[in-house]
Amino acid sequence: MAWDPLVKKVAWFGGAYLFVAATVALYIVMTGSFAGRGTGVDPETAARGHSHYEAHCARCHGADLKGQPGWETRRADGTVPAPPQDESGHTWQHPDRQIFDYIKLGGGIFSKRGERSEMPGYADQLSDPQIWEVIAYIKSRWPEETRARQLRANMIGGFEHH
Ligand code: HEC
Repeated sequence: MAWDPLVKKVAWFGGAYLFVAATVALYIVMTGSFAGRGTGVDPETAARGHSHYEAHCARCHGADLKGQPGWETRRADGTVPAPPQDESGHTWQHPDRQIFDYIKLGGGIFSKRGERSEMPGYADQLSDPQIWEVIAYIKSRWPEETRARQLRANMIGGFEHH
């Protein structure tokens, strides 16, 4: 059966399209181009975030982002010490939006019954763009691998912890 010229055309373009798509996919896999996609942090934004961090966050979370000693253990009064903001803590397990809300609104509104939070809300002290700058600074201190994991948290809505 002779193929209709239109069918032939469609088949040819379809084949060519698949070939290009496969080549691009192979290129991405071979070069690992996807690995760091979307995890870079703009250095100027991070620098602005650094100064907000120094002014507002360092006294609890540490200038080195290491948090307070014994941060993993809840105190008898129901509070927890400030956790690290680097990759040894658990901020990276949360999607951006949750991190943002935590900083803007404070820990109190997220506390479960019987827990108390010493994490203040910054709605009055930092504008929304400034909060994103602080987040950019915190991310800039994570290794590439942690940023990639947090990107996954963004996609699946976060990991469970506590
Ligand atoms: C007075 C101490 C204090 C200050 C100042 C403070 N925090 Fe916190 N922060 C805490 C404590 C304590 C927690 C632990 C959770 C809780 O108690 O709500 C926390 C939790 C967090 C979390 C959630 C971590 C997680 O994985 O659940 C983020 C994010 C955070 N702080 C960021 C910041 C940023 C950014 C600033 C500055 C703008 C800041 N904090 C200032 C005490 C503080």
